[in-house]
Amino acid sequence: MLDPFGRDISYLRVSVTDRCDFRCVYCMSEDTTFLPKADLLSLEEMDRLCAVFIAKGVRKLRLTGGEPLVRKNMIWLVERLGRHLKTGALDELTLTTNGSQLARHADALAAAGIKRVNVSLDTLDEAKFRRITRWGRLDQVLDGIAAAQLAGLKIKLNMVALRGENEDEIESMIAWAHARDMELTLIETMPMGDVADRVERYLPLSLVRSRLERRWTLIDLPDKTGGPARYVRIAETGGRVGFITPMTHNFCESCNRVRLTCTGTLYMCLGQEDAADLRRPLRASPDDGLVSAAIDEAIGRKPKGHDFIIDRRHRGPSIGRPMSLTGG
Ligand code: 5AD
Ligand code: SF4
Repeated sequence: MLDPFGRDISYLRVSVTDRCDFRCVYCMSEDTTFLPKADLLSLEEMDRLCAVFIAKGVRKLRLTGGEPLVRKNMIWLVERLGRHLKTGALDELTLTTNGSQLARHADALAAAGIKRVNVSLDTLDEAKFRRITRWGRLDQVLDGIAAAQLAGLKIKLNMVALRGENEDEIESMIAWAHARDMELTLIETMPMGDVADRVERYLPLSLVRSRLERRWTLIDLPDKTGGPARYVRIAETGGRVGFITPMTHNFCESCNRVRLTCTGTLYMCLGQEDAADLRRPLRASPDDGLVSAAIDEAIGRKPKGHDFIIDRRHRGPSIGRPMSLTGG
């Protein structure tokens, strides 16, 4: 699938639910209302839709949320998608999770062919963890990470860098992760959803990087993912650190991805409103022709890039929908 700017779209991110058992302060308000269950695609419909994308050239698929593992029978979908790994149609199936249910599911995920999971972890301090996630329990997540490693899954930690909240822990968390054979990716807060404190909490990663350079030797690694992350190796630990800097770095020219929500809406860009409804063509016919044509039409208008902006004149969200709908 080629978009109008010649980018080969080979990466599909699927948000299987907008629900979550956490309420991270930068993501959701405490009284978030979720989509009515009746609007959701069934897992069977998601499986069918993913198969259409794979037939059209998607080689990498990531399951996200909300929290994907709170969706009922989620492992069924993971196993169904795993069959495309066996046939060779798909190169990689991955998952982004908050880790709360990971201890229970780690073995099944590994058995289905998942090799790597991204776990969101912003702090190793119990009280801070509760303050940031509101409803989360740190020990459950740490148990989940341990179980996943025992099951043979590679772990990448996602840490949202928050000024005055966890910025003093960045170095210790990198050292902690690298000592346990995990990568850590730092993420700048993005202006999505209606969340308080955005400007106050924004911490530019350019600043974090120069702080890290005072302590460690950072070796730039070539970019291979087509994504927004830039990676370095830290000579002293041997481990990798990623930087996701949507505000300070423009990564759109190599963007290879589109995002599907749990209601069957396809977003062509995380930072734009352009969308296509795939649920209607999917349900209109048992034949995949209609939905395939709708996907082609959508890819044909993938925008060139985002225009996120956070400053004191733009306090509101650039994008009204929360990250939990499109899955980051
Ligand atoms: N800005 C930056 N990162 C966010 N995440 C969720 N909401 C935001 C936001 N507004 C992060 C989660 C998770 C990843 C998928 O996205 O913490 O690690
Ligand atoms: Fe849930 Fe992830 Fe949003 Fe936190 S950031 S509330 S874990 S979806």
